[in-house]
Amino acid sequence: MSTAESLLVPSLRPMSEADLEYVMEIERSSFSTPWSRSSFQGLLSRDDASLWVAEVAGEVVGYAVVWYVLKEAELGNLAVDAEWRRLGLGRRLLDWALARARERGTERIFLEVRESNLAAQELYRRCGFLRVGLRRRYYRAPVEDALVLCLELLRSS
Ligand SMILES: CC(C)(COP(=O)(O)OP(=O)(O)OC[C@H]1O[C@@H](n2cnc3c(N)ncnc32)[C@H](O)[C@@H]1OP(=O)(O)O)[C@@H](O)C(=O)NCCC(=O)NCCS
Repeated sequence: MSTAESLLVPSLRPMSEADLEYVMEIERSSFSTPWSRSSFQGLLSRDDASLWVAEVAGEVVGYAVVWYVLKEAELGNLAVDAEWRRLGLGRRLLDWALARARERGTERIFLEVRESNLAAQELYRRCGFLRVGLRRRYYRAPVEDALVLCLELLRSS
């Protein structure tokens, strides 16, 4: 663990409406087709979805979104503010989301990732996700295939 990472202990807590201003800033600067504010609002009102933020010194620096379908889950979104990347925050958010999913008894979690998004793919690979599928032309702007990744939560910790 680097010195920067060891000093950086974010607090992880559920997202609230009040966070959306900061979340939307990160979302718009992280994705070419960002989610709308109403997408986050819709998920915040659902019992079958969990949204968390990572805060450092009172500032929202990243977030993760998971929704659940029976014993399976989908990691729907994960992003860290560009100025705070490579400090271990994405990993902490992901580990947190996986731990909460395990607590709910979730057996496996899926996600889609752009074929060109090697940073995210490396993070997921290091957490044990395996490629289980390909969705052709899944993304817009630019059009690109999605890799479908899966982590068996009962076989990993
Ligand atoms: C993907 C993302 C969330 C990673 O967040 P992060 O806080 O920078 O990630 P971490 O610092 O926790 O990195 C953990 C590991 O992931 C891998 N990783 C992260 N960024 C990487 C990069 N740019 N290149 C290669 N590997 C990378 C490394 O293995 C890293 O460990 P290391 O720093 O010890 O080498 C962040 O880059 C991001 O927000 N990207 C834009 C949004 C996005 O693509 N989200 C995922 C959609 S599927």
